[in-house]
Amino acid sequence: MFLSREEEKILDGEKGWILERAMRLLTTIGDLNNAERLVPIKRSQVAGVSYKTVGDPTLHLVEEFARENVRVRTKATQNPAGMDLKRWREMGVPDGFAKKQLRICRAYEKLGVEAVCTCTPYLSGNRPKFGETAGFSESSAVAFVNSVVGARTNRHGGLDALSAALIGKVPLMGYLLNENRTGDVYVKVCFKPMNETDYAALGYYVGREVKTDGVPVYDGIKNASLDDLKLLGAASAASGSVALFHVLDLTPEAKNIRGVFGGKKPKYKLEVTREEVQSVYDEFPMREKPDLVAIGCPHSSVQELKKIAELISGRRVKRGIRFWVFTSPKVFEEADKSGYISVIRSAGGDVFLNTCMVVAPIEEIGFRCVYTNSAKAAFYIPRMTKNKCKSGIASLRTCIELCTTS
Ligand code: F3S
Repeated sequence: MFLSREEEKILDGEKGWILERAMRLLTTIGDLNNAERLVPIKRSQVAGVSYKTVGDPTLHLVEEFARENVRVRTKATQNPAGMDLKRWREMGVPDGFAKKQLRICRAYEKLGVEAVCTCTPYLSGNRPKFGETAGFSESSAVAFVNSVVGARTNRHGGLDALSAALIGKVPLMGYLLNENRTGDVYVKVCFKPMNETDYAALGYYVGREVKTDGVPVYDGIKNASLDDLKLLGAASAASGSVALFHVLDLTPEAKNIRGVFGGKKPKYKLEVTREEVQSVYDEFPMREKPDLVAIGCPHSSVQELKKIAELISGRRVKRGIRFWVFTSPKVFEEADKSGYISVIRSAGGDVFLNTCMVVAPIEEIGFRCVYTNSAKAAFYIPRMTKNKCKSGIASLRTCIELCTTS
């Protein structure tokens, strides 16, 4: 991989051991992927924040980094932490967990990574433009900015996203290159999605089928909202490793079928009917009474909070069930001004920031069955709780009707 004189100096340790390590990680990834060189970025999203997912090794590593005098060179935001950074006691998060979580977030902040703690940084001021190269981790954010915004990022891990933020560069490879952004699999959507969870189930099914086969191109989706695409992308990134998808006539790089496949033939075709989508609902059945109904994977937008407020208005959350919504501080502030938060809270629900039902220690809090409208969350909840917690999916409307009385 070609390195400039300046980059070589960093690799030789002339700018300190942290930047040397960051450069070594980026150049190793670049060499393994035949990258020609590094290219500059202005934005990063750094995963590896929740104490539940990263534990003591990352806590100590980030604190070690923070003791040195280095700062990121890009706008950089933190992924969700394991708790609401202010209202963790209301969530029931244990003290020991909270102390360590706060140390992780503070250490990242010292490095210049903002403690926005959201997986939707693109709704909180960290949104790359169409065609812009970025260094994002967090699979759902990667899928959204690549596919819906048309920005360019690879699916980085937490440490390489942090390294990219510290160096201000990423290797030129993968989804940064035109030839890797064209379609690989043609997906004919042969049913009419009725709500956001149908889109999530569609994404989940397609991700499971496509796995690592490349870029799916959806044909037959009309009128999907940005929130629908957010849930679809998050689900296919979870069940497969889809970092980029296109929707014909909807997403910015899918103007026509010839162009989206770059003139080549799809590797194969998939047809998705209501039956395939139903198989996803069947994988996460709603058989038991839930103790938590959780919305906001990925973190809720203002529009979603508005919809939740409309659906829950005049209703009351049932005894024995909690109704929690997760979002980012910036979105919360806007939704609060419009009165949506107080409607949700007066119905007995709550809205928490900086965290979610997957990366918070819900099993330690005592939850055993969670219903959600997100296929990504339904997929991860049993895995992240070592099967102490079950999950089920249904649409937002059904979730709210189920956990409230009128
Ligand atoms: Fe975000 Fe947590 Fe879902 S990080 S995408 S809300 S699993």
